[in-house]
Amino acid sequence: MNNFECNNPVKVVFGKGVINRFPALIPEGSRIMVLYGGGSIKKNGIYEQVVAALQDYKVTEFSGIEPNPLYETCMKAVKVVEEQQVDFLLAVGGGSVIDATKFIASAVYYEGEPWDIVSKGGVISKVMPLGAVLTLAATGSEMNERAVISRASTSEKLSFASPLLFPQFAVMDPQVTYSLPAHQVANGVVDSFIHVIEQYLTYPANAKVQDYFAESLMKVIVEEGIKVLDNPSDYDIRANLMWAATNALNCWIGVGVPQDWSSHRLGYALTVQYGLDHAQTLAVVLPGVMEYMRKEKEAKILRLGETVFGITTGGTDERVTTTIQATENFFRQMGMKTRLSEYGISESAINALVEPVKQRGWKLGEHANIDWQAAREIFRLRL
Ligand code: NZQ
Ligand code: ZN
Repeated sequence: MNNFECNNPVKVVFGKGVINRFPALIPEGSRIMVLYGGGSIKKNGIYEQVVAALQDYKVTEFSGIEPNPLYETCMKAVKVVEEQQVDFLLAVGGGSVIDATKFIASAVYYEGEPWDIVSKGGVISKVMPLGAVLTLAATGSEMNERAVISRASTSEKLSFASPLLFPQFAVMDPQVTYSLPAHQVANGVVDSFIHVIEQYLTYPANAKVQDYFAESLMKVIVEEGIKVLDNPSDYDIRANLMWAATNALNCWIGVGVPQDWSSHRLGYALTVQYGLDHAQTLAVVLPGVMEYMRKEKEAKILRLGETVFGITTGGTDERVTTTIQATENFFRQMGMKTRLSEYGISESAINALVEPVKQRGWKLGEHANIDWQAAREIFRLRL
């Protein structure tokens, strides 16, 4: 196990009917901005609950944060924060709203061009405090220090992180996820599964706590993920999926172990260039990364096959192949497409898809050996 330091300070408030609990966690007298997306919270009763809980506070709203949130939209919110002298940000939504809120919280105090935070690793030294009311179980953003922001004018999608960006609290009522459309539920299941994979499916580091924890999270996500589409209002299934998704990306399983993240980085171009949802990109790319890296990842692929998919027979190569197939089959069971051709994307598109890797000189993966040429091979495997 590698050395590590970690400190996850997020207060989690989890369970049925907990939305009214958060005002106690916000400093008295705060001027709050409530941030949300395209309006789903107005159709499913979450908005009313939030507004009722905040009746004693001065509240400003900012709506219209889009999936894969844009820098351009965030900068509009920054202006309102300044005009209204807001001093606390409350994100009510999925990963996109929470990520946008993290960027806004950083941009408000950033000296210089805020896009540098995302594109040049600009150091964040002060942020506005933020809290999250989660409406979609997927990204773990409610309990982590990361965010992903896109910029329309340059067609970029990039991630950034800072220990200052952990929310003060995460309010999670699994009942709020009942109203999600089935494809968003599937997105959440697949995204959270692949968050575990990015931190687990590398090479052995004899980190038993992280490995067993990761394996149990994947088992929960596969077991409950397969059930949830037919049982959308089953509280226990939703609760298990929500808590699994949070734990899949809140530091714990990733400390002290090598990490990959190549599927995520390669997937961003599919979102920017073809509009695929974040999880849709991952379901296409990950089987390609597994295939391309099958030798380097062999020991962990065998463990994944055995512990999560029950694959115990056959020679080594055969078991690796069967495990890659089982992973892809799981995504298909969730109703996801797993091939570029299913999205009408052909070989001629691949050069543009690897352009961000080329331009930024990325060397991705746990061995830093996925450059743009390797990325091209990975995309070719997914045609
Ligand atoms: O905008 P509204 O109207 O709210 O609708 C949203 C949106 O259209 C809808 N939705 C959310 N909760 C709902 C609901 N509809 C009905 N009922 C509810 N309870 O779902 C749609 C998708 O929401 P979004 O927030 O975009 O989804 P998700 O949580 O999957 O977030 C995706 C974003 O997070 C980033 C992705 O790149 C993408 O930009 N990620 C962030 C990470 C992080 N911060 O750690 C890690 C991830 O790997 C990921 O990259
Ligand atoms: Zn993800």
